[in-house]
Amino acid sequence: MAKKIASPAVNIGISDKDRKKIADGLSHLLADTYTLYLKTHNFHWNVTGPMFNTLHLMFEGQYTELALAVDSIAERIRALGVYAPGSYREFAKLSSIPEADGIPVAEEMIRQLVEGQEAVVRTARAIFPLTDGANDEPTADLLTQRMQIHEKTAWMLRAMLGQ
Ligand SMILES: [Fe+2]
Repeated sequence: MAKKIASPAVNIGISDKDRKKIADGLSHLLADTYTLYLKTHNFHWNVTGPMFNTLHLMFEGQYTELALAVDSIAERIRALGVYAPGSYREFAKLSSIPEADGIPVAEEMIRQLVEGQEAVVRTARAIFPLTDGANDEPTADLLTQRMQIHEKTAWMLRAMLGQ
């Protein structure tokens, strides 16, 4: 934990303080995204019932996308000169998404994933004002992409529930 400070060697036009603040926000986004990734993969493995094939494949598309997203988020933290969290213990501390408990029925899995997708959007949206103040367009761009994907996925999952 001793190395978590923003590196003073980074001179990209964003102050050390802002780089640290934005990277802290992105660490929460990384933890949320990783937790949602694991939950979605878990449900891909363990879903049962008449919707098995549809959900098994739908969840696969979602966890594959999330696995790529965590890499982009972590690498943005590094580009800001800060170390990225990368352990279950750190993620559990930083994440706003509760871990899955037992094996929910298919519909409850969908409900939990809607909640998870929405939670990630809220985390991303909360970081956005920091990027504005610091003129950090690359992070703003990443956040915009993440919010777009999570809002769309939340809609698709909600639609499966007839909502
Ligand atoms: Fe699989």
